[in-house]
Amino acid sequence: MYKQLQQRGTERPPVNVSTLARMKNKGEKISCLTCYDASFAILVDEAGVDLVLVGDSLGMVIQGYDTTVPVTVDDIIYHSRAVARTLVRPLLVADMPFMSYSTPEQALTNAVRMMQEGGAQMVKLEGGAGQVEVVRYLASHDIPLCAHLGLKPQSVHKIGGFKVQGRENEAAEAMRRDAKMLQDAGADIVLLECIPSELGAQIAKDLHVPVIGIGAGPDVDGQILVLYDILDITPGRKPRFVKNFMIEGGSPLGAMEAFCAEVKAGTYPAPEHCFS
Ligand code: KIV
Repeated sequence: MYKQLQQRGTERPPVNVSTLARMKNKGEKISCLTCYDASFAILVDEAGVDLVLVGDSLGMVIQGYDTTVPVTVDDIIYHSRAVARTLVRPLLVADMPFMSYSTPEQALTNAVRMMQEGGAQMVKLEGGAGQVEVVRYLASHDIPLCAHLGLKPQSVHKIGGFKVQGRENEAAEAMRRDAKMLQDAGADIVLLECIPSELGAQIAKDLHVPVIGIGAGPDVDGQILVLYDILDITPGRKPRFVKNFMIEGGSPLGAMEAFCAEVKAGTYPAPEHCFS
């Protein structure tokens, strides 16, 4: 019954928000991957990944859509529940889909479903200054939260494509302000996608909560990639930050282990995976 207490002090205690905060303070890099099913969850766990995201990227890599916009709360819950059944050590984060957090009340209803029905231990939402109230409301109800800044794929139709964000001074300053506001409103983690490495480093320095990057350079507190990208399953042209870890790893488990090892050593991302 006291599973959390029993696992404390064991060789691989489950990761929680305090673990991630400690890792940031010690300068230990946080390795994160997306995952959508029970079988891969076993491997991701065995590979030593610290945080697993049931991302709305499932709309693209599992469901075959061009964007994440069609993904529903029920889709995320279905996949999160499957992952939760076999995942032991990593922190399980579920993505809030497009328009599932347009008001604080709607966000709370959906976040609670993701935790109660999907087994998630944290939810992630894409947001800037416009989502501060939602973040504050969720945090006031003790919902653990990750705020996603930079390239926000749910806004792809508004911003006109998947593009690097924060290159101009004004946009970079606005992102730094937004990150700080989201942290102060109660976000436990900030995730930065597709921004110049220098801006990623500044935001990681500005914040006391862990900052996870995907195409945000090496000087953030952790890295996340889409599982199917590191396994080279995704066909066609890929974003610059993607690396095929099957070459080094040789098998799905080997690729996940190679990803974790390179994140921990700070050798991934290399300059060719970064934006300036
Ligand atoms: O949905 C997702 O997989 C994500 C990652 C790209 C961070 O948000």
